[in-house]
Amino acid sequence: MRRKIIAGNWKMNKTPSEAIKLVEELKPLVDNEAVDVVFCVPAIDIVPVVKACEGSTIQVGAENMYFEESGAYTGEISPAMLVDAGVRYVILGHSERRDYFKETSEDVNRKMKKAIEHGITPIMCCGESLEQREQGITLDWIRQQVKVGYQGIAAADAAKTVIAYEPIWAIGTGRTATTEQAEEVCGAIRQCIAEIYDEATAESIRIQYGGSVNAANAAELFAQPDIDGGLVGGASLKADFGKIVNYDR
Ligand code: PGA
Repeated sequence: MRRKIIAGNWKMNKTPSEAIKLVEELKPLVDNEAVDVVFCVPAIDIVPVVKACEGSTIQVGAENMYFEESGAYTGEISPAMLVDAGVRYVILGHSERRDYFKETSEDVNRKMKKAIEHGITPIMCCGESLEQREQGITLDWIRQQVKVGYQGIAAADAAKTVIAYEPIWAIGTGRTATTEQAEEVCGAIRQCIAEIYDEATAESIRIQYGGSVNAANAAELFAQPDIDGGLVGGASLKADFGKIVNYDR
């Protein structure tokens, strides 16, 4: 039985002092021992959020990371910096990073390897555009993103990672994929992992759905056999996140 993982993606929201306030507000609401709850926050919020989460079961994640150890990479954050600050997870290859910052699947693969080397669990995002869905190439595209993303990663390491399926047309639009669409692609991702590795790895890896997840649709999405939780943007900044985390209550 895979443990559900529900992660908030704060994106570029909340100053450090606002972040502490939000954690204080959400802390009593996201108490659910049965699921992994992760707050992925802007880099500057990591240190205060880790401190504010002390004494709770909330784990803290980053939204990005660079693939070098240290050096002349102005503006970047290294894996060791994240580990030292108390970070356990990192979102890699979010569609906003791929679109606006021109990150390629090869970049994502290098970051995946570095995160794993440092004991940080990557949450690797993949997802198709509306145009790709309409062209009927969704599954080909997702398989490509997954195959390149996991190149050179050992089965034992891959088994512990997380993949977030996020159709780009569903992100921040209020237009959630239907449960059938979400399950179809998450199932295809698991099948792809089985082809790259084996059944055991495919059964272990956790696959989230992301894209306009909210308190009203979370329970049905998370009940699907291949959906092991969610990556939540907008609704993770509100009390609603408590309802999403407690979707089964
Ligand atoms: P959304 O964002 O929940 O606001 O659609 C999801 C994401 O981009 O991770």
